[in-house]
Amino acid sequence: MVPDTASGCDFVVVANRLPVDRDTSSPDPQWRTSPGGLVTALQPVMQAQAGAWIGWAGTPDEDIDPFDIDGMHLVPLRLSADEIELYYEGFSNATLWPLFHDVIVPPEFHRAWWDAYIRVNRRFAEAAADVAARGATVWVHDYQLMLVPEMLRALRPDVSIGFFNHIPFPPWEIFAQLPWRTRILRGLLGADLIGFQRPTDASNFRRCVRMNFGWTTKANAIRVPEDPEVGTAEHVAEAKAFPISIDTSALDALSHDPAIVARAAQIRAELGDPEVLILGVDRLDYTKGIRHRLKAYGELLADGLIDREKVTLVQIATPSRERIDQYQHIRTEVELAVGRINGEFSDLGYQPLHYFHQSYPRDEMTALYLAADIMLVTSLRDGMNLVAKEYVACRPSGTGVLVLSEFTGAADQLTQAVMVNPHDISGLKAGIVRAVTMDEKEQRRRMRAMRRKLQGDDVQTWSRRFLQDLHALDSDKGISSWE
Ligand code: ADP
Ligand code: F6P
Repeated sequence: MVPDTASGCDFVVVANRLPVDRDTSSPDPQWRTSPGGLVTALQPVMQAQAGAWIGWAGTPDEDIDPFDIDGMHLVPLRLSADEIELYYEGFSNATLWPLFHDVIVPPEFHRAWWDAYIRVNRRFAEAAADVAARGATVWVHDYQLMLVPEMLRALRPDVSIGFFNHIPFPPWEIFAQLPWRTRILRGLLGADLIGFQRPTDASNFRRCVRMNFGWTTKANAIRVPEDPEVGTAEHVAEAKAFPISIDTSALDALSHDPAIVARAAQIRAELGDPEVLILGVDRLDYTKGIRHRLKAYGELLADGLIDREKVTLVQIATPSRERIDQYQHIRTEVELAVGRINGEFSDLGYQPLHYFHQSYPRDEMTALYLAADIMLVTSLRDGMNLVAKEYVACRPSGTGVLVLSEFTGAADQLTQAVMVNPHDISGLKAGIVRAVTMDEKEQRRRMRAMRRKLQGDDVQTWSRRFLQDLHALDSDKGISSWE
């Protein structure tokens, strides 16, 4: 039944995490909005039309009352320690994450994880159904919540539902391994609009629908039959690509800030003023190809193909999902490789590799991007990779080289990067040498083209496009125009 939501919210974001961090430095811990692109893009929409954001605050077993911050109504959902283990670390990040990233490590299939995933997804769907006003727009985000669209449609057929998948969507040949594939597809198909990073992800999804159900699809549209068991009526869903981007103008402004520019110079000086500063910035995740990058760098030092007195690599590896086995393995492997490279090639006045397992404020990240001559992005598979776009946005000088894996969503747009296949270590080494030796004229030509692309394609444009498409579908419920 549709609840009386006269005082409900017209726009509801549902995501695994709330867009806030808790500042624990004061005796009375305060929330502050986290500086990510998603919140930047959605905050104005939420401020303009009674918006709410439903998500987990990041700690176990904590009941937090809904609260308002920066014009947004936040609704924290409690996750028990058990649910974090089974739903977040288990099904989301040890089943779906590796399955959707080319099975770089083997996905694990456990029925208890799946049960917890259903339970938690239902809690998110019920919370959305509670806060959404009649006819509201609800935008669900990412692979942790793929059952929410269908659950919500059953509870609230009056709302308009969008879903955006921030990570890749695998081809049928891989997706078919998932024992619960039918339920996951059905879950997503509860949305009116299902957005993906790349056209390939959207076409993989539509093909999975055809292969799994034997249904036909028409261009981006999928006719979804009613499901009396779940309680959903027939409707048409659209699945298409909406490549996400960054807050280009905010980063551009930061990169002109005199204090940040001075900090960039200081970083270079503290590193001994290397002729070429190479940077890597990634969550410490096996999808990011950090091992491959370090192997290539170590070999280049050993071969003498880059001059070790002139080149320094700074690798930032943000702590991530630290209780999951595969994340502990990758950390061990990366840190062994770092130790080997520094053990072999350092001398008293020179260290070829600086490794940091830490998070940084946005200003410091911007200073690092400004300081770096070369940015290495070597993901084995990546939905988009925002770091690549951030680096380009932080290069007002027009110099700098982006070395970019062809297996990132960003490679579809930043076509002037030096493209590499990170599995091909010789090719990766050649790409790095190409970047180190590229003349300034070519650097500027490539960087100018990439910066132009990002100016017309920022995260605000991305959210506007998605929501406009969702509303356009909403005004035509689709079925009538199918035949
Ligand atoms: P993913 O979503 O897989 O983590 P992306 O590259 O798309 O990868 O996004 C990572 C985001 O996290 C970027 O906005 C980047 O600036 C930020 N980030 C990465 N490492 C750090 C760090 N050590 N400190 C602060 N922010 C970081
Ligand atoms: O981009 C994929 C993603 O899982 C996002 O949903 C999330 O914000 C980010 O990576 C960090 O992951 P986690 O929330 O597991 O720390």
